[in-house]
Amino acid sequence: MFQEGIFEGKTALVTGGRSGIGYEIARQLLQYGAEVIIASRKEELLQKAAEELSAHGSCHAFPLDIREEERVEALSDFIQERCGKLDILVNNAGGQFPSPAEGISRKGWLAVINVNLNGTWFVTHQMANTFFLPQQSGCIVNIIVDHYRGVPGMSHTGAARAGVDNLTKSLSVEWANRNVRINSVAPGIIKSSGLEHYPPEMVAQVSKTIPAKRLGKVEEVAEAVLFLALADYVTGETLYVDGGSRLWGDMWQV
Ligand SMILES: NC(=O)c1ccc[n+]([C@@H]2O[C@H](COP(=O)([O-])OP(=O)(O)OC[C@H]3O[C@@H](n4cnc5c(N)ncnc54)[C@H](OP(=O)(O)O)[C@@H]3O)[C@@H](O)[C@H]2O)c1
Repeated sequence: MFQEGIFEGKTALVTGGRSGIGYEIARQLLQYGAEVIIASRKEELLQKAAEELSAHGSCHAFPLDIREEERVEALSDFIQERCGKLDILVNNAGGQFPSPAEGISRKGWLAVINVNLNGTWFVTHQMANTFFLPQQSGCIVNIIVDHYRGVPGMSHTGAARAGVDNLTKSLSVEWANRNVRINSVAPGIIKSSGLEHYPPEMVAQVSKTIPAKRLGKVEEVAEAVLFLALADYVTGETLYVDGGSRLWGDMWQV
């Protein structure tokens, strides 16, 4: 898909890179020559993923909860020591759970907002201030969700991801003249580890309504991320990777 070695000399951070979509993004970045840091909470699984990914290139692991600002700061120190710079940040870590709005508790709401909106902000703010803005170069890609028609049945994540989508626009303008770009990728329903948290009948029902008549693949999301990492004049954009489902078809049964 891309020219061999096109990411050589680049350093990339992929949050949530131990599994699913993030793992494939990390794998492709390594395959095309980048040095990659993956960061997430479950240390054993994270180390195992980094070992596997090392078959494709230089991969480091850093245990991190993106909601903890001190750990995010420690991660930027780690990257500075190991790699000396950062070129690409992929904010992929995140998650949510299906629930009718009236059944979402205060704790559940705050958990989803904290990880998907606040956590994404903490990592973005830290990496921009430590690396991208002083370097006058950098590129951020946020993985959000398809929230084009709202996210009925998961209103908490819809609100959080719409926040990240809007942040993408604001920061793209603030940082454009400092050669820092920021874009988002909005996946539809992707066959990945994340889907295991949803009832299989819910997934089967919704996959029939996607105009492309199939679920997306992690490879297809990763390719969109790599494209945005290379597209020097694209910023403030959200690229939907959803087989057309933002425009047509039923959503989850609510
Ligand atoms: N699959 C889909 O259909 C789909 C569609 C739209 C959007 N997305 C989004 O795409 C991203 C990846 O999803 P996926 O399907 O690959 O699911 P996944 O395998 O569950 O990936 C989520 C990753 O995020 C990490 N993570 C979660 N909370 C974290 C935290 N507080 N701090 C640091 N890392 C954290 C997890 O690792 P640890 O458990 O080790 O922390 C895991 O590696 C998520 O943001 C998801 O919401 C997925």
